[in-house]
Amino acid sequence: MHSVELPVEALPSQPWAQRLLPKRLWSQALLIQCVSMLLMTGLAPGVINSVFAFELRSLGIRLDSVWFWLLPHICVVSVLAKAARMPVWWRWIHVAFPVAVVFMQQVALPASVYFAGFVITLALYWSVHNTRVPFYPSFPSTWRAMHHILEQHADDHSLKVLDIGSGIGDIAMFLAKQRIHDEVSGIEIAPLPWAISAVRAIFSGTSVKFTLGDYRDLDFATLDVVFAYLSPAVMSDVWQKVQQEMRPGSLFVSSEFPVTAVDASRIIYPAVNAPALYVYRIDATPSPSHP
Ligand SMILES: C[S@@+](CC[C@H](N)C(=O)[O-])C[C@H]1O[C@@H](n2cnc3c(N)ncnc32)[C@H](O)[C@@H]1O
Repeated sequence: MHSVELPVEALPSQPWAQRLLPKRLWSQALLIQCVSMLLMTGLAPGVINSVFAFELRSLGIRLDSVWFWLLPHICVVSVLAKAARMPVWWRWIHVAFPVAVVFMQQVALPASVYFAGFVITLALYWSVHNTRVPFYPSFPSTWRAMHHILEQHADDHSLKVLDIGSGIGDIAMFLAKQRIHDEVSGIEIAPLPWAISAVRAIFSGTSVKFTLGDYRDLDFATLDVVFAYLSPAVMSDVWQKVQQEMRPGSLFVSSEFPVTAVDASRIIYPAVNAPALYVYRIDATPSPSHP
């Protein structure tokens, strides 16, 4: 593979809106919401005192109502988000968030409900800003396909299997039930899913173990199979670790997210609507990659 260096003038130029905006998506979103709110508060007195005010009021529209201003606000934030080329789902957040804020203000729930929501969200998502992997559970068809992979790989031997980012422990517990001679474990960084998995393990009647911690601090050298259901953002880092630490002949299996530019040994489709499983067999020499 050889790379070609382009002269600066040949590189695509950034649109002006993007050059003015901060780099991180959440700070772009905050800025866009603030700009639109400033615009609305600037416009409000003018509209309320305008010649149309009487007609609008006679139509039953209350110009001092926050609901009246919500519509232009979500239109403006949507247009600004599009101009900033934010991903589509951020545009939906831009629309849903102000509506939710106004709605929750009207409902006027006690502060303790918000505090409880904050604590639960924190315990569930924990250091997602650092790991870039949120919690979402895998599918039963994925567990069954994973069981099949272990059956084929074990060849009558017992295996040491680890789920990196084990969530509430579904897949590890399923595999431990199916393959009672294997040593199945999971590691999870967020306290709430880990606590749920640890309690479930006690009542599961299996030897499955769940540890609270970061898989990046673990050594994969003694493992036969590592299962991951993480996110595209971390796949190249995980692959580097897998290649450096796992023994030749061991397996790395990723649900839904392939390792970019590395050919999987096998791709398994567990069910029609379930994500694919990418199976990588660790070679003695690093596996060939394509550009
Ligand atoms: C998509 S969920 C998958 C849950 C589970 N493996 C399953 O298949 O149902 C990913 C989990 O990985 C956890 N996680 C993300 N980064 C981690 C890290 N560095 N160490 C341990 N767990 C991590 C998240 O907290 C989340 O619960």
